[in-house]
Amino acid sequence: MNHFAAADDISGRADLDVVLRRFYTAAFADPAIGPFFTEIAGTDLEVHLPRITDFWERALFRSAEYRRDAFGPHAALHSVRSLTAADFGRWVQLWHATIDGLHRGPNAERAKAQGERIALALHKRLAGDGAAMDGEDGLGFVPLAAVELRSVA
Ligand code: HEM
Repeated sequence: MNHFAAADDISGRADLDVVLRRFYTAAFADPAIGPFFTEIAGTDLEVHLPRITDFWERALFRSAEYRRDAFGPHAALHSVRSLTAADFGRWVQLWHATIDGLHRGPNAERAKAQGERIALALHKRLAGDGAAMDGEDGLGFVPLAAVELRSVA
């Protein structure tokens, strides 16, 4: 990409392919959340990528089918090792950085906002009443509390 050119918006599956490969490469290598993929779930990126691309293509453009259980794998992870507010904050930070590095526009904004909303929803559903938005674990790299302030829910 030419660094002097204005970045384009996310316009379809081909763009999502690039975004998601970049995001998951960073997530797998990340000291905080990488082990959930590499050590706990043993995720095969080449299996995960087409599924997650369907998920995002459906979320943003309604042009793919995604009928799998998106919550279950996170509940399974959480039962082995807690997925904390800090972990979700890190996920959000990597997601934003990946999108901002490649795209600019309304779809890029929607993708970031939806990522935040889902991260918050997953955290609340997993942690229940114990969802920590402050205190020892509540900050993360990007405070999930800040995401909550931005969310309408
Ligand atoms: C710290 C936060 C997160 C971690 C560590 C994490 C990790 C994982 C792992 C290990 C899997 C299982 C992959 C496999 O099949 O091996 C998974 C599945 C999935 N994740 Fe996450 N995740 C996080 C947050 C999110 C968020 C915020 C979203 C949505 C925006 C998301 C969307 C999904 C979806 C849709 C699947 C299911 C894929 C499928 O099997 O159809 N995850 N995640």
